[in-house]
Amino acid sequence: SHKTLTATDIRLRKGREPLVCLTAYTTPIAKLVDAHCDVALVGDSVGMVLHGLPSTLSVTLDMMILHGKAVVRGLSHALCVVDLPFGTYEESPEQAFRSAARILAETGAAAVKLEGGVHMATTIDFLVRRGVPVMGHIGLTPQSVNTLGGYKVQGRDADAERVLSDARAVSEAGAFAVVLEKIPHSLANLITSTVACPTIGIGAGPDCDGQILVVDDMLGLFADFRPKFVKRYANLAVQAEKAISVYAEEVRNRQFPSQEHSFGERA
Ligand code: KIV
Ligand code: NA
Repeated sequence: SHKTLTATDIRLRKGREPLVCLTAYTTPIAKLVDAHCDVALVGDSVGMVLHGLPSTLSVTLDMMILHGKAVVRGLSHALCVVDLPFGTYEESPEQAFRSAARILAETGAAAVKLEGGVHMATTIDFLVRRGVPVMGHIGLTPQSVNTLGGYKVQGRDADAERVLSDARAVSEAGAFAVVLEKIPHSLANLITSTVACPTIGIGAGPDCDGQILVVDDMLGLFADFRPKFVKRYANLAVQAEKAISVYAEEVRNRQFPSQEHSFGERA
C-alpha cells in the first residue's frame, strides 16, 4: 500500500497481522525499512549506535530532530515514530508537550515514543489529548539504566505485577502501542492479552502484537554488541571490513584507480 500509515492504523492492528518495526536513523536505511515495515522508529539508540555515546542519556532533542528529518525524507508508507530523549519530557506534561511539538513540527514525524509506565501516564494522556500520538516503552527502559542497575531482564517473578501495571497504565492513558523490552515471554503474553493497545516486543518473546529490533544490530553492522534477543540476519560489518581492507591494499599497490575509474581528455 502507498498510503502512509497513521498511529490509528497501528492501534487498529491489535489482534490482526503482526506489526513489523525497525529503527532507522538515516534516509537510505529509512527507504529500505519503508519497503517492508509498518513503523520506522528513530530511536535514541542512535546515540550509542551512530555517535559512539556510552548510553542514551546524553542524546539531545536536536540530535533526534536531525535524524528524524533524515528518516522522514526516506518514508512513504511506514509510520515515523521519534524517541523523546532523556531530560526532555520527565519534568512535566508541559515540558513533554513542548519537546514533542518541536519533533512533530520540525521533522514531519507523526508520533513520539517515551519511556515509563504508571509515572508517565498523566503525561501520555496530556500529549494524546493535545494531538500527539504516543508510543509507550516499558520493561527495560534504557534511559533509567542508572536506577535499574544495568540492562537487566525486567518483570521476573515478584516484579511481574509492576511491569503489568505499567503496561495497563500506558494503554489506558491512550498510547497507540507499547514497546515491551527485555521481559519474560510469559509476561509479554499476559500483557498482550490484557491491554487494549498493540504490544511491540524486543526481547519479549513471540506472543507480542509486533516486533522491533535495532536495524544496525540485525544487519550485523557492528562486531562487538550481540545481546541474546538480537537475531543476526546479515553480517554487514564483516563485508565492510573486507571491502575496506581490499581498497587499502589496492591504493597502496596503485591498483586503484585503474583506467576504468579515471578520466581521459575530452577530444
Ligand atoms: O532507541 C531504540 O532503538 C528503542 C527500541 C530498541 C525500542 O527504543
Ligand atoms: Na529508545
